[in-house]
Amino acid sequence: MRIDSATRDQLQEWEKELSAQYQRICQHELSLDITRGKPSAEQLHLSDRLDGILNGDFRAADGTDTRNYGGLEGLVCARELGADILQVPTEEVLAGGNSSLTLMYHAVLTGYLFGFAGSKPWRELQSPKFLCPVPGYDRHFSICEQLGIGMVTVPMTDSGPDMDAVEEQIRNDRDIIGIWCVPKFSNPTGVTYSKETVDRLAQLGQFANPGFRIFWDNAYAIHDLEQQVNLPSIRAATQEHDTADSVLQFASTSKVTHAGAGVAFVSASTANLASLKKQMQAMTIGPDKVNQLRHSRFFAEFTMLREHMQKHAQILKPKFECVLNQLESAFGDSDLGGWEKPKGGYFVSFNTRPGCAAAVVKLAADAGVKLTPAGATFPYGKDPEDRNIRIAPSFPPLEELDTAMSVFVLCVKLASVRQQLEKL
Ligand SMILES: Cc1ncc(COP(=O)(O)O)c(C=O)c1O
Repeated sequence: MRIDSATRDQLQEWEKELSAQYQRICQHELSLDITRGKPSAEQLHLSDRLDGILNGDFRAADGTDTRNYGGLEGLVCARELGADILQVPTEEVLAGGNSSLTLMYHAVLTGYLFGFAGSKPWRELQSPKFLCPVPGYDRHFSICEQLGIGMVTVPMTDSGPDMDAVEEQIRNDRDIIGIWCVPKFSNPTGVTYSKETVDRLAQLGQFANPGFRIFWDNAYAIHDLEQQVNLPSIRAATQEHDTADSVLQFASTSKVTHAGAGVAFVSASTANLASLKKQMQAMTIGPDKVNQLRHSRFFAEFTMLREHMQKHAQILKPKFECVLNQLESAFGDSDLGGWEKPKGGYFVSFNTRPGCAAAVVKLAADAGVKLTPAGATFPYGKDPEDRNIRIAPSFPPLEELDTAMSVFVLCVKLASVRQQLEKL
């Protein structure tokens, strides 16, 4: 289906056919949901052995009684797990509670209220702002929005954020104090940053505001669907450019073990970790070390973690294939949309024709298929071109996903044809 070259008669015919199909689907009273990137029950089962794994033995290898208070930085064995995931030294890792998003929130608060490593608190600047590569992760944007931190968008390319735009913004605005990055299997585009991008990001600390920090949210560090995709080390790059303080790295086991009961990690330079700990120690006496011990027993070796991730991949791969096959057969030879083919992570990002995304989401909702709201991948929920829709294939069973995608495809066609008819 090619819309740009279609005549009015052809469009009207398509509209009639597609509307009839849509009406038929609406009668099925579907109730399907492909909104959030949650692991399926089948994936969660892979880690059920965590329950009971301690079998009454609560002592960590270093003798710590994990049931008791203390240990702000987390257990050494849990920090080792975080170090393996992020490929950094254990001393540079703090293992926290179940959510890396919480650690990111704390880190933003630390920068905002107190400043990192002796730099000025962001709240003392006239209009502190984060750079937000778009489309991006809505919860990153919510943190900034809630704290009144401004957001400046920069486009994502197929090798990471548009670095010319990033550098220009930072050179021209001293109030830019952060950038959100999901460097591997980016949410939602699935892109992994190239070596050049990582290297240029590592150099930002040489000319940005001294309080500037890269928020390196490596949520999908080990979530490869097939062979491992290599993400160049931001730590090595910042060391090379003498900007080690400019980056804070995050990860968690949320999409490795039990999404709501995992362990989260932050890795940073000694000075940054000291700033984070100073703020945290007023909030908590320490994290849930019992759960940390469960995780380090479950993954006694890093190879066990890798094998475990392959089991996730086996479950996820057919679901990604289902989404990609449906998109390819519906739109492979069309001018109705574009999408990326991720090699891991949790999402497929689809771009409709400009001005169609909200209409697609509404049509799908009315037919019983819930999609992530249009605009969610942009700050303040506003996609200026109304194009991007994030598809999350992981949660529903395969048959449901297949049905949901058929509805999605139909809604994209119908919304596009109707929009074109209105234009003519
Ligand atoms: C990029 C990204 N970061 C963080 C999270 C949430 O991580 P956590 O469960 O560790 O808070 C998600 C979840 O979807 C995500 O996609």
